[in-house]
Amino acid sequence: MVQSSSASITSLYIHVPFCAQKCDYCAFYSEAAAGELVNRYTAALVRELALVADDLKPKTIFFGGGTPSLLNLRQWEQILRAMERLNLLGAAEFTIECNPATVSADKSKLLRDFGVNRISMGVQSLDAQLLDRLGRVHSREMVFKSFDLLRRAGFDNLNLDLMFAIPGQTMAIWRATLNEALAMGSEHLSSYEVIYEDDTPLYEQLQAGQFAVNEELACAMYEELVVRATRAGFHQYEIANFARDTRFKASGSALQPYAIAQPDTEPLKLETVPRIPAFACRHNVNYWRGGSYYGLGPSATGYVRGVRTKNWSNTPLYCDQLEKGARAIESTEELPPLRRAGEIAAFGLRMNAGWPFDEFQRMTQFDLRNEWASEMDQLSTRGWAARQTDRFYLTHQGLRFADAAAELFLR
Ligand SMILES: C[S@@+](CC[C@H](N)C(=O)[O-])C[C@H]1O[C@@H](n2cnc3c(N)ncnc32)[C@H](O)[C@@H]1O
Ligand code: SF4
Repeated sequence: MVQSSSASITSLYIHVPFCAQKCDYCAFYSEAAAGELVNRYTAALVRELALVADDLKPKTIFFGGGTPSLLNLRQWEQILRAMERLNLLGAAEFTIECNPATVSADKSKLLRDFGVNRISMGVQSLDAQLLDRLGRVHSREMVFKSFDLLRRAGFDNLNLDLMFAIPGQTMAIWRATLNEALAMGSEHLSSYEVIYEDDTPLYEQLQAGQFAVNEELACAMYEELVVRATRAGFHQYEIANFARDTRFKASGSALQPYAIAQPDTEPLKLETVPRIPAFACRHNVNYWRGGSYYGLGPSATGYVRGVRTKNWSNTPLYCDQLEKGARAIESTEELPPLRRAGEIAAFGLRMNAGWPFDEFQRMTQFDLRNEWASEMDQLSTRGWAARQTDRFYLTHQGLRFADAAAELFLR
């Protein structure tokens, strides 16, 4: 984003590189938590926060991982008190990723007390066998229990993460998981097709021929996701992300579900004018719009005033650096402006709202209508995109091929 050099950065991502155990599909940088290293990480993170605090006025904060909810009460208190001292609290949106196995009432209360107002829970599936197949540490019952506990702790902005096209997952199993997850009544839903990441056990099983990928089924599951989520009252605002537009009404019971918005008996109404719903994750919207953010913690990437940074993906090395008073940056990169603008164009097209021309120009200094006119025509002719006077966006059909569409914009 083009910003005056004195304006503070308003988005903060913090990576917590620990998990109770590693899931079979996951390539995020994280390892099984070892007691003393977690304490060392906590102290190092506090140092890293202090190094950037003067340049930060966070409107959105996102602790991801790994499993941030794995940190114990004392470690959380240490981090949150440091953030308080450094004037980093008070963000409009403060999200923490949780695993259903590591949610507790006292931790939830502490987080709420320090202004955490959004929890993103990794569910993946509500089928007991598939949870096992994926190497998840939690049961389906723990998902429901943790969700209720978070509601009781006062969280009124909850996200659930689901995965589809999991080996062994039939359409019937996916439908059952979707129905149960939607009935829980979260404000937000993220759902990703399984990606076979190098060096993961799931990838190795695929390579060994233990199962085959069924692209047709994966596409049908994605369609089912869009239809079911829309009927349940969600608005799709990015390929894999859905959010509600209205606030949860507690009216006495904190567990009251949302009403079904579009029953099966009515023809499905998809939005014709794409927009961003009220409960969209603002932190990720900033990211897809090419905005600046600090990225702290091992392996985290950041993007500040045109410069991309990447921290070391090595927790002891990260701690060593910060104990010496230095940032733990492994690499920095500054892309030529047109290349960066192409990336920003591609990223923003993942969102249903696409790119308002004036917003794109404000972010990049380039005009989409000049630099990418032929690519926009090409996609519109194919039915993958639509153009209005003020914006360009991918259609529902185009969103299914968003990666191929976005590639046209890279310079
Ligand atoms: C860092 S994890 C979220 C929180 C927490 N660590 C957990 O798993 O409970 C972020 C999300 O990315 C998704 N994810 C991770 N690896 C994936 C893969 N290989 N393919 C598709 N989705 C993946 C999962 O839905 C996961 O919940
Ligand atoms: S999916 Fe979540 S819990 Fe599983 S290994 Fe990855 S970060 Fe850890």
